[in-house]
Amino acid sequence: MINSLKKYDSLRSVIDRCNDVVLGILGSSRVREAGIAAESFKNGGKRLRPILMILSSTAAGKSRSTEAPTPLIELAAAVELIHLATLFHDDVIDEVDSRRMKPSARVKYGNFVSVLAGDYVLSEALLLVDRSGVQNTLPEFLKTIRVLVSGESLETNHKFDFDMSEDTYFDIISEKSASLFALSCKVGGMFARSGHADLLGRCGWNLGMAFQMIDDLDDMLDLPNGTMDCDLRNGYLALPVIHALNSLRDGHRHDLIELIRRGDYSAQEERLIATLCNEHGGIQHTNDEIERHLNQAAEGIAALAPNEATEFLQQIVADLRAYTRRQVSGFSIFCGAHTQSK
Ligand code: FPP
Ligand code: MG
Repeated sequence: MINSLKKYDSLRSVIDRCNDVVLGILGSSRVREAGIAAESFKNGGKRLRPILMILSSTAAGKSRSTEAPTPLIELAAAVELIHLATLFHDDVIDEVDSRRMKPSARVKYGNFVSVLAGDYVLSEALLLVDRSGVQNTLPEFLKTIRVLVSGESLETNHKFDFDMSEDTYFDIISEKSASLFALSCKVGGMFARSGHADLLGRCGWNLGMAFQMIDDLDDMLDLPNGTMDCDLRNGYLALPVIHALNSLRDGHRHDLIELIRRGDYSAQEERLIATLCNEHGGIQHTNDEIERHLNQAAEGIAALAPNEATEFLQQIVADLRAYTRRQVSGFSIFCGAHTQSK
């Protein structure tokens, strides 16, 4: 999704240091769940949130990203640990069988182990923030955790809610996902003692909103295979579906609801759902919303004095934009709709 992360070797050493902090903490524990967390951590992940924190710190300050001081690396490791903790819990809530192309911890070790692993990782993350000694950051982390829980709660309260509004969808993704991106960028700015910390937080939030909508599109249709992930089967309605439901009338709307409610769709029915979302403008609408948030992120970054980090942040925005365009045109081709993306 984000090619620039692979291209920019300059951040490799910083991410390695961040990984070392995480694996050092997990490796020194005798709690079984710490070992399971280390296994899951090593299975992959883009480390996007730590990267955003370190880039934000450099974008707002003077030092180079490659010279990130240890307390910043610790805060970056803490944000990745929180992300990991949410995934352990989310996989139990969503009842998914795989994570990062491997069997999820809940499938391999059981739900209660996955919950405990999340709890363990979360506590280590907060201890690490405290240990970093960077002023005023612990309350920011704690407030964000409260928001993450609120978002996940809202989402589960609206499962199979076919009257769910777009605003509710945006509240959900803002809280469960964009809030952690916002934290990453704001804390980077705070670390640099910059007056731009809030601006960076808003950039992070916009990136996070776009990122979650892209992730939801990916869940709807895994191109080129065309298979659907299980989120819709579990009743989680993403923006394209909400938009299609709002556009369809009477019998057609009823048919789509019944199909989603039934859950065990055939490949042909998956294609029908994707096609309905595409033909009724749901995919294009999602594309427009992603663009809107990416534009706002880019405008925020452009307000900062240019340096290597602002350039890199803009590259991340550009990568997300390009990925979305490919994904949206892939949708059209897959659905055979031949509609031209704007
Ligand atoms: C993934 O969304 C889940 C989140 C972004 C947030 C999960 C939050 C919680 C479980 C509550 C807070 C928990 C802790 C430990 C602080 P998704 O299901 O859309 O993405 P996916 O396709 O990657 O599963
Ligand atoms: Mg999930």
